Amino acid sequence: MNIKQFRYLSDNLAYLVYNNKTAVAIDGGAVDLILSFVKKNGLKLKFVTNTHAHSDHTSGLKSLLDRSGALYLDGDDLLETGYIELEGERLNVIHTPGHTNDSVTFYGDNILITGDTLFNGTIGNCFTGDNLLFLNSIKKLMKFSEKTVIYAGHDYFEYAMEFARVIEPENDNINAFLKKYNPLLITSTLEDEFKANPYLRFNNPQLMSALKEKGFSVSTEQERWEALMSFE
Ligand SMILES: [Fe+2]
Repeated sequence: MNIKQFRYLSDNLAYLVYNNKTAVAIDGGAVDLILSFVKKNGLKLKFVTNTHAHSDHTSGLKSLLDRSGALYLDGDDLLETGYIELEGERLNVIHTPGHTNDSVTFYGDNILITGDTLFNGTIGNCFTGDNLLFLNSIKKLMKFSEKTVIYAGHDYFEYAMEFARVIEPENDNINAFLKKYNPLLITSTLEDEFKANPYLRFNNPQLMSALKEKGFSVSTEQERWEALMSFE
């Protein structure tokens, strides 16, 4: 399967996942760009879906459906089936609640489409208020191969590293992460995230001492996670 990223609004990122003939649009707010890509490449838009139901992610939904004849898959459909099938190939779905209760992450050949659960360099707001639920979802994503490429719901790349520096001023990997910033294609690998994203570093000794220096108790994973989640 292939993936194409489209930018819309100020920092939202839409995706088209496709193979030879068929495609699925995920958080398809970039309606015109998506439909012209579909047409130019002789594809059929078969499904339209979302990582979660926030309005900036669902904004293209009606227009895409009206203009393509695609089938809409809502959050319940995704979780019930557990995958989206394109000509025998599967794009899998995992439930990753925390940002919202309905948040899902898609995974296929070496890619994760994470919506507002995991961004390149940070994570989403915990609108459910359940920090541990969010931690469990992040831990699900941390189990993937380090080479997995992260396609997130927004470009918060530079802002994320400013914030990472507040938590871990001594982390040299932050500069290396920033050097990889390409506004035309916003991605990182899980390996990059383990090095620079503080929210994936709750078991890293360097992060632990940074938190300890700030007066946090760091004896348990849960304490370290709550410490990270308390940063504003
Ligand atoms: Fe959201």
